[in-house]
Amino acid sequence: MEIVLCRDVLDAASRCADIVEELLQEKPDAVLGLPTGTTPLPFYEELRSRSLSFARVRSFNLDEYIGLPEGHPGSYTAYMARNFDVNACSVCLPDGRAEDLEKAASAYEALIQEAGGIDLQILGIGRNGHIGFNEPGSSLKSRTRVKTLSEPTLKANASDFEGIEPPTMALTMGIGTILEARRIVLLAAGASKAIAVRDMAEGPLSANCPASALQMHEKPVVFVDPEAASQLANTEYYQRSQALQEKLKNA
Ligand code: PGA
Repeated sequence: MEIVLCRDVLDAASRCADIVEELLQEKPDAVLGLPTGTTPLPFYEELRSRSLSFARVRSFNLDEYIGLPEGHPGSYTAYMARNFDVNACSVCLPDGRAEDLEKAASAYEALIQEAGGIDLQILGIGRNGHIGFNEPGSSLKSRTRVKTLSEPTLKANASDFEGIEPPTMALTMGIGTILEARRIVLLAAGASKAIAVRDMAEGPLSANCPASALQMHEKPVVFVDPEAASQLANTEYYQRSQALQEKLKNA
């Protein structure tokens, strides 16, 4: 796992946008896996500020809540409409309003396959180590399915649902689905993520920290701000490695 210690969340966002930009130069019809949440907001802002063409891009979101009224601002469909140029790109999310959720989950997997698989998956991380809505205890080989949200997740997202009964379940890509992406970049910011980041990068591979499954991916890259990096033990190594990698790149 490549840990990149960033100056701040804006630096992390800009590095992540660089990766998207480089990918689109190589492959204008790339397939992206996209996250929601607070952490990626500066990343989407950075993407909007660059003149990139998403006309041939297909994107798949990690997850969507189940049972929200259509167009609810707390839905990830609404989040994407606010933060990403959904008109210029084919944006797909799991159908959290489907009558048959199991069928919707398999249909989502099939759509990803038909698109040729995900070239670049961008992730956030929950304070409990979840990726997508794969909460602690999720099978490391799981596929897109219905998942019950954990207590910390319900708390963290409660402010998006003032005035209505908050959703307690979601359709989420599985950990197995995520690990099939050809490249993975994870963004983490803030002190509330420090333990999860430590467990993901330096802890044992465990369903208790679903993000630790990234240890099984070929080359995941993690952009962390100083607060999210504050519990890491091997910081000196990451710094040295980062400096040498940059030197190699610029040689
Ligand atoms: P956050 O969510 O960026 O809003 O903290 C991240 C996540 O739960 O994946």
